[in-house]
Amino acid sequence: MARKKLIAANWKMYKNPTQTEEFFRAFLPLVFEHNRDEIVVCPPYVDLQAALESAKGSQIAVGAQDVYWKDEGAFTGEISSAMLVAVACTHVIVGHSERRQYFGETDDTVNLKLKSALEHGLTPIVCVGEVLEEREAGLTEDVLRRQCLRAFNALSAKKAAKLVIAYEPVWAIGTGKTATPQMASDVHQLIRGEAAKAFGEEFAAQLRILYGGSVKPENASALMSEEEIDGALVGGASLDAKSFAAIVKY
Ligand code: PGA
Repeated sequence: MARKKLIAANWKMYKNPTQTEEFFRAFLPLVFEHNRDEIVVCPPYVDLQAALESAKGSQIAVGAQDVYWKDEGAFTGEISSAMLVAVACTHVIVGHSERRQYFGETDDTVNLKLKSALEHGLTPIVCVGEVLEEREAGLTEDVLRRQCLRAFNALSAKKAAKLVIAYEPVWAIGTGKTATPQMASDVHQLIRGEAAKAFGEEFAAQLRILYGGSVKPENASALMSEEEIDGALVGGASLDAKSFAAIVKY
């Protein structure tokens, strides 16, 4: 069975609820009845409600950008998977490189967050990717193997069924530099191989691996036409309704 592509918007720390409503008013008519791909918008937490209400009745799903692994407790500032499910979020980004870089995210916390998201029935989009120094030192494969291995720790194929991976070379995020479709494809194959080792061939064949890092309307078709690329995680170019719609309709 062919893998349905997933096009996800990662708004990062942009937009308030009013701007979220404005986005959806412009975006929904542009992607009316577009069902070829799965579409998800991940706004900041305070915009989730506005996004969910705006998206109601459409095919657009709403996700969060991070999650904490405990269901509730004295964890000031955190939001749990149970809470995301309670407001009808369906997706969550886990382990984004900005979380790893600025907020102390580690391979182990990624694993805990991933397990929590899966247990609550969310679709987790787990981000992996090498930084420039790692690529230049020839460490890309090692880094990705380690990130996958640790993220998948103590999970079964059955539990991980909804897993989505996003390969985001850190040097390509917000820089205007994109991995070539071939470069991305090569890494996607490596990730699929790690998934096969952890969860079996059948699981790996169904696993969706997105590409992220300066995806724009101009490069979306070339990336999406690669057999190995099952969608995109889009930052900057997802903030504008027209540009995100153009990517969705690559
Ligand atoms: P970018 O961000 O599209 O702005 O490069 C992608 C991401 O960080 O998910």
